[in-house]
Amino acid sequence: MIGVFDSGFGGLTILRDLRKALPENDFLYLGDNARSPYGSRSFETIHRYTWQSVSYLLEQGCPLVVLACNTASARALRTIQQKDLVNSPYSGRVLGIIRPTAEEIGFYTKTGHIGIFATPGTVYSESYLLEIRRFFPNIKVSQQACPLWVSLVENGEFDSEGARFFIQRDVNALLEKDPEIDTILLGCTHYPLIADQIREFLPKNIQLVSQGKIVAEKTLDYLKRHPEIDSKLQKSGKTNFLTTDTAEFFKKGAFLFGETAISVKSLTFL
Ligand code: DGL
Repeated sequence: MIGVFDSGFGGLTILRDLRKALPENDFLYLGDNARSPYGSRSFETIHRYTWQSVSYLLEQGCPLVVLACNTASARALRTIQQKDLVNSPYSGRVLGIIRPTAEEIGFYTKTGHIGIFATPGTVYSESYLLEIRRFFPNIKVSQQACPLWVSLVENGEFDSEGARFFIQRDVNALLEKDPEIDTILLGCTHYPLIADQIREFLPKNIQLVSQGKIVAEKTLDYLKRHPEIDSKLQKSGKTNFLTTDTAEFFKKGAFLFGETAISVKSLTFL
């Protein structure tokens, strides 16, 4: 199975595109819903929670785990790749979603000015600034931390008046930083769920980019380049779900993301 990890439900937006791109592959999704959101937590805590979940997926035999969470990719991926995996008994690989997104996002802008909405953890890590500069040194990138958006999504509160207040506040703050922005990246896997609400406050000439398709295409490409990993993957088209909260809680939330009639196992020990 390909392991897919997120702090909660957000990674389901990535999983959907991964399944479209790799319809025959088996997936094992793990949402750390009991401890979500990660966005405002410390580096140490995000790393500890992420490694606990990722090592569980590796232990289940996943030859590849995708961190379908920008906050975990920004805060934990490097330590996992350079330290934890090296000192572990697992042979699986762990990939993040910031690098593949950074490799592509520069092709979307005409003005050369990009905006990013993300969690405080992702914004303050500056991972996107560093990675985009590596591939597109002449593009100007402005970021806006949106500390409340994930909670609005996780709690199903995203279509309320209160949600609109906070969405408008953060959208205006980003546009004030750079009026020449023509492309905005949703740099958190939860945000595609509130794309319509965000668009209400954006001028029509600004395009909003979600990561799902980009990550799926890059994963497909990665597996073509790594047949030794691809050959270890099961291909019966199945997806199983794990959550650190209760199965009922996960099923209810996953429904909002279009996942119905799913099999969910609760991991209360993580
Ligand atoms: N969906 C995750 C991301 O992409 C994060 C959310 C959170 O738990 O704050 O950043």
